[in-house]
Amino acid sequence: MHRAVCPGSFDPVTLGHLDIVGRASKLFDEVVVAVGVNPSKSRMFTADERIAMLERACGGFDNVRVASFAGLLTDFCRANEVNAIVKGLRAVSDFDYELQMAQMNASLADEVETVFIPTAPEYSFLASSLVKEVARFGGDVSRFVPDFVHAALVSRLTTGPTSDPTSDLTSDNTPADPVPEA
Ligand code: PNS
Repeated sequence: MHRAVCPGSFDPVTLGHLDIVGRASKLFDEVVVAVGVNPSKSRMFTADERIAMLERACGGFDNVRVASFAGLLTDFCRANEVNAIVKGLRAVSDFDYELQMAQMNASLADEVETVFIPTAPEYSFLASSLVKEVARFGGDVSRFVPDFVHAALVSRLTTGPTSDPTSDLTSDNTPADPVPEA
């Protein structure tokens, strides 16, 4: 069984992420899309919301499941018997940092290989941070994210969060559990 993880913040998931997940799903028996939970970082969407959006967006892939993790990615890999970390590479600017992370992860867990997948040209400029910035200033980002993510973005920017968007943790300091999709 070759199991890969596609880790990220996914705040929110974009079509670029989904392109990488879909291509990884053809290379591996199972792909785990893992939402990194880092309470020191401010997010637009809570961990629960990001997980729920990913579950919906990945619903069409038979061998993809969604999880969350806090702490080291290599610990998540060991706990979930993951052999490969899949990362999309958009441009040379991604490479330095991704190589550094790949080498650090290899030094922590040499049984886990990092695999880079080149981003499709149509998504090479796409990043969640840019999508949020453009949306904040009223730009049309509907072609960069799934329809229901676009609706959530517009709603969040119009009405604000229903709860603290910076809170990635539940009150007992454990990562929040995924919520079932409505
Ligand atoms: O979407 P992002 O923000 O680029 O995702 C970054 C993420 C979550 C993949 C990365 O920060 C990560 O792997 N965090 C887990 C902590 C860890 O293992 N750090 C050491 C990496 S060398």
